[in-house]
Amino acid sequence: MVDQAERLREMFKEKKPQKPPRKKNLSRVIVVASGKGGVGKTNLVVNLAVAIGQWGQKTIILDTDMGLANVDILMNLKPHFSLVDVIRGHKDLREVMLEGAYNVNVIPGGAGLSEIINLDSHQREQIISRLSYLDDEGDVLLIDCAAGLSRNVLSFIAAADDVIMVTTPEPTAITDVYSIIKIVNNYNLHSTINLVVNMVHSIEQGAAVFKRVHKVCHNFLDVDINFLGEIEYDRYVHKAAISCSPYILQYPRSRAAQCVRRIARRLLFEEDTIHDVAQKKGGFFNRLLRLWSS
Ligand SMILES: Nc1ncnc2c1ncn2[C@@H]1O[C@H](COP(=O)(O)OP(=O)(O)O)[C@@H](O)[C@H]1O
Ligand SMILES: [Mg+2]
Repeated sequence: MVDQAERLREMFKEKKPQKPPRKKNLSRVIVVASGKGGVGKTNLVVNLAVAIGQWGQKTIILDTDMGLANVDILMNLKPHFSLVDVIRGHKDLREVMLEGAYNVNVIPGGAGLSEIINLDSHQREQIISRLSYLDDEGDVLLIDCAAGLSRNVLSFIAAADDVIMVTTPEPTAITDVYSIIKIVNNYNLHSTINLVVNMVHSIEQGAAVFKRVHKVCHNFLDVDINFLGEIEYDRYVHKAAISCSPYILQYPRSRAAQCVRRIARRLLFEEDTIHDVAQKKGGFFNRLLRLWSS
């Protein structure tokens, strides 16, 4: 029989799990956008964040789409304040950030986010210092955007390290995602754009949509499309949403959950192949606020 002292000795012999090194700046800011609405961005962001969290990385979701199916609803959180309160100086970021499952924190963007433009340099510096707390907080910041390309969405895309565009196999969704990629290309914002094809009925369908988008971008634009993967059409997505829980937690064996885990794995571990070649300088919020003020 092993006595308690023996057990303690054994415990101390065990190798301590290695913590990933803390970086000075947020290590990665990934923005999720689409041409058409209702293609599954919010569901992707929430489940991707939990998948990344399950691998021990800290993830922050910035919810900038104040539409109907919000991040906080899918994660059963009750927001009282938003990033707008932080920017206006009424609240501290800590008071605004909500704690979700598996290392996932959520920052509600707030309804007035799109009105925050034309800041002078003093206001900008103040806001950046209020947001600097974030620099130490997360390994990944995922930004959920409204559909289409407003000035705000364009600023988020411009300031982020990586972009994930979401489409479905529906022809209108494909046309719309191409239009948005074209604009991103015209502004020369990213050399690589990641694509997720959601609600597919087979793996082949996902690959076919990717090929189509890739071909037209290759022929007419100067941007490379990287296929992050497909998510199958799965009725468990809707079932989980009704119970206000991410499907990756509620139905971890569902087809959609398996697909999202695969996408998360590619995103985290095949970084070299998808990370934008042109590394952005300075912090994310610094870049964002500069864009908002220009
Ligand atoms: N893989 C999927 N299978 C089935 N339904 C899905 C899937 N992904 C999303 N949905 C459904 O599509 C609708 C839109 O999803 P949502 O994430 O809110 O899209 P968006 O944020 O792009 O507007 C929701 O009703 C959601 O349940
Ligand atoms: Mg949404």
